[in-house]
Amino acid sequence: MNDIAVIGTSYVGLTTGVAFADMGNRVVCVDVDEGKIARLKAGKLPIHEPGLHEVVMRSVSAGRLSFSTSYEEGLKRAEFVFIAVGTPDDGTGGADLSQVRAAAQSVAEHMHRPIVVVNKSTVPIGTGDVVTRIINEHRRTSVEFSVVSNPEFLREGSALLDCLQPDRVVLGGPREAAERVAQLYRPLGCPVIITDIRTAEMIKYASNAFLATRISFINEIAAVCERLDADVKEVARGMGLDQRIGPHFLNAGLGFGGSCFPKDVRALMRMATDAGQHPQLLQAVMDINADRRRWVVERLRERLGDLAGKKIALLGVAFKPDTDDVRDAPALTIIRLLRDAGAHVTSYDPEAGEQARRDMPDIDLQPDPYTAVTGADAVVLVTEWKEFRFLDLDRLRRAMSGTTFIDGRNVYDPAEMRSAGFDYLGVARGAGADDSMAGEEIYLDTAVTRSDPV
Ligand code: UDX
Repeated sequence: MNDIAVIGTSYVGLTTGVAFADMGNRVVCVDVDEGKIARLKAGKLPIHEPGLHEVVMRSVSAGRLSFSTSYEEGLKRAEFVFIAVGTPDDGTGGADLSQVRAAAQSVAEHMHRPIVVVNKSTVPIGTGDVVTRIINEHRRTSVEFSVVSNPEFLREGSALLDCLQPDRVVLGGPREAAERVAQLYRPLGCPVIITDIRTAEMIKYASNAFLATRISFINEIAAVCERLDADVKEVARGMGLDQRIGPHFLNAGLGFGGSCFPKDVRALMRMATDAGQHPQLLQAVMDINADRRRWVVERLRERLGDLAGKKIALLGVAFKPDTDDVRDAPALTIIRLLRDAGAHVTSYDPEAGEQARRDMPDIDLQPDPYTAVTGADAVVLVTEWKEFRFLDLDRLRRAMSGTTFIDGRNVYDPAEMRSAGFDYLGVARGAGADDSMAGEEIYLDTAVTRSDPV
């Protein structure tokens, strides 16, 4: 058992703390937000994350997990302190490091024993050196410390699972300290890569930028498919079966949102530009992503004409399913664009209503999908929540005043939607798309193998 302090109780901090506690360590999660800590102590989580609540309760009652606003308390016994605070956009595309700096200073002021400071926040290359400098400046005693970078790759909606079953753990910093951190992850049995601190920091940005690039790539292919009448869903499936390509992050749709991809791609662009390297591919990735939101408005205009006075219903507001997060969510941009065009927009989301209201106080949120679409000229599926797959399509269509249905995530079978009476449009599904054929891979009789002469 190791003693660990985790600074920050949002997605990364809370999930990391809970995962380490579940692996048998003693963890104190520290946050300067008193309200958040009071709610956590009362068993209320600040984020909606499948499975997390149960493990929090289990770890708290086993005495392995506690919450505090006090660095003094958090660092009393800690051998490792993980910094997992926010690094939001600073307004110029760069990362705002004020929370990281403040956390590093507080750690310095409260450490009493040799400690490994592990940075989990996504930070610009070189931040490890900044943290080292701050701790050196502010530590009151000559306590030994090392700084290690350990970027986090968890996704919202599957945070705990991702944390407990990572594809890899990346550690950057002095070898001995990095190896000690590696031991913490040993129970997970996954590959660990140890490198220098700047390289570890870059691995995080490069990974997120690559995934964002895949999404913009398939969205660009979708835009071409749309003009040439090919089905992008089948194109992605055909591509994904090539083992060099793989099937992941090839869903065409309304583009990426969330707290990471847009912010991290922008921050990487900023770092590149500052270093004298023009980030031409990354610029295209962002431009294509912005186009996806406009695509909805253009398609609605094609079908409904002038949007002034039209009622449009959005299904889904969260930036993706299984989360209540609306940061950089396509839905919010689409609502703004539609309102600018004079439309009235209603929406429904199973979890993200409260968060959406914080960002957009006058959002018209309805309690269920059927109420949201009542009297609507068109419906747009923005977030592919599972419950939207099981809608009563007949009831939905009867509640609407029009028949236009734009499926921004290619959830439905076009043939089925058309026979349910919708004027259905998916993302580049081609004129004849029919999902009764999809998923069919025909395995030929192996009597003739590749090595056999033809
Ligand atoms: C991402 C990274 O996956 C994770 O490793 C990192 O730590 C944080 O950023 P997250 O933002 O939680 O995680 O969501 P993710 O599931 O990766 O999806 C990001 C966005 O891309 C969502 O808006 C999603 O709708 C979109 N997306 C994803 C697509 O449009 N198409 C896809 O094929 C996949």
